[in-house]
Amino acid sequence: MSLIPTLTSLVKDGKFQNDFIMDEDERPKVAYNQFSNIIPVISLDGIEDDTPGGQREVIRNQIAKACEEWGLFQVVNHGVDLKLVHDMASLSRAFFALPDEEKLRFDMSGGKKGGFIVSSHIQNEIVANWREMVAFVPYPIKERDYSRWPDKPKEWRAVTELYTEKMMGLAIQLLEVLSEAMGLERQAMTKACKEMAQRMAVNFYPKCHEPSLAIGLKRHTDPGTITLLLQDHVGGLQATNDGGQNWITVQPIEGAFVVNLGDHAHYLSNGRFKKADHQAVVNYDHNRLSIATFINPDQEAIVYPLKIEEGDKPILEEAITFAEMYKRHFVKHLERGKAKKLAKEK
Ligand code: SIN
Ligand code: FE2
Repeated sequence: MSLIPTLTSLVKDGKFQNDFIMDEDERPKVAYNQFSNIIPVISLDGIEDDTPGGQREVIRNQIAKACEEWGLFQVVNHGVDLKLVHDMASLSRAFFALPDEEKLRFDMSGGKKGGFIVSSHIQNEIVANWREMVAFVPYPIKERDYSRWPDKPKEWRAVTELYTEKMMGLAIQLLEVLSEAMGLERQAMTKACKEMAQRMAVNFYPKCHEPSLAIGLKRHTDPGTITLLLQDHVGGLQATNDGGQNWITVQPIEGAFVVNLGDHAHYLSNGRFKKADHQAVVNYDHNRLSIATFINPDQEAIVYPLKIEEGDKPILEEAITFAEMYKRHFVKHLERGKAKKLAKEK
């Protein structure tokens, strides 16, 4: 059995490890509970009404505008059963409430492809995020490895299977709308993904007695196409659309999904749609749960703008595979970290 202490046990012992104190420029700039309503909340009710001037067109325009300004919006009336959403969240919370030995049965440190992990790792480097997480791969189905999915609480697996299926359906609907918003056929974005993959991260951010010094999940963009995030009433997702000058804390809305565009969608739209620049902060009073569903293209899918407006240049010099795009995304991240470390040592 691994001896890695979980964050929950650190909190219980009242300890705060230095590793979790962020450099000043990485600390939250706005409070975790200072919510903003600036991120558009879009109802998908009537999305099937594809008549000229009908509701689909209204929704398409709202989504396109939100993607141009933020790469981020919330959806409500999305058609996913709210009881399923509620069960997914409460069973996930119940997993994190299990004793450490139970959670560590699924310990994924050491390069395993799914399971439970404390903090975060980027290419095996530990990143001091105040977060515990369960990660696993539901799609493509041939990559499903149930030995890395928690087996407690006992209903979790069946509920998760249904939840991930519904998330796939919702993501496809949204990618269809985004394709239309680019003036392309409905299937343009899903085709660009080849065999679409789905990865899940169920995040648990234990309450933290130094929320202004620590961070739940450091600032980043998601590398994939689109992310559907369920966040509980506690809130803590923050975003910036001006390169990090101003930040907002997204208002949590019960039963809504926050939709983030990732680097892949940014490239496909030739930069017209922003990639959501975001982070998660922690809370003094409450544990927080969020469930991220990442929709990614196949590793071999070709990444290149699907549409280049007249007079514009492609934002990618050459077509690359998603595997290559992914590698470049994290190399940039690691290089930034190393440069910072060197500067500090000088
Ligand atoms: C994520 O960026 O994957 C999660 C963000 C959150 O927990 O709000
Ligand atoms: Fe993210």
